Amino acid sequence: MTSGVPSAQTAKADSYQRICGVSDVGEGKAVGLEIDGHPIMVVHTEGRYFALRDVCSHAEVALSDGEIEGCTVECWLHGSRFDLRTGTPLELPATEPVQTYAVQVSGDDILVALTPPLK
Ligand code: FES
Repeated sequence: MTSGVPSAQTAKADSYQRICGVSDVGEGKAVGLEIDGHPIMVVHTEGRYFALRDVCSHAEVALSDGEIEGCTVECWLHGSRFDLRTGTPLELPATEPVQTYAVQVSGDDILVALTPPLK
C-alpha cells in the first residue's frame, strides 16, 4: 500500500450522503459532482462504483473528463493513470495519489462517505 492519501473503502454508516442516482452514472462512465463545494468524481465500471476527488494530483484538472479503462482513469491532460480503488498513480507524470471515498448503493441512490474529512 502506498503512503499519502488514505483509501476510504469503509466508513461509519452516518458518514454517507447521497451524491447522485445510479442512473446518472452509466457503465464505463465518470461524472464530476460536488458535495459542499468539493469536487468529487463518481465512476461506474466493472459493475462497481468508485468515488475520488475530482482533481488530478499532477496539475489540478478534472479527472472525470478522463478515460475510464477497467478500474483506472487516465487523466486527459498528460496521461497519468490512477487506480480507482486506491487513487494510486500508475503512470507518470503524476506521483501523488488522489483521495478516494467509500461508496454505497442504496436503492437508486449512490452514497459517498465524507471521511476522511474533505480538505
Ligand atoms: S494534469 Fe493530470 S497528468 Fe498532468
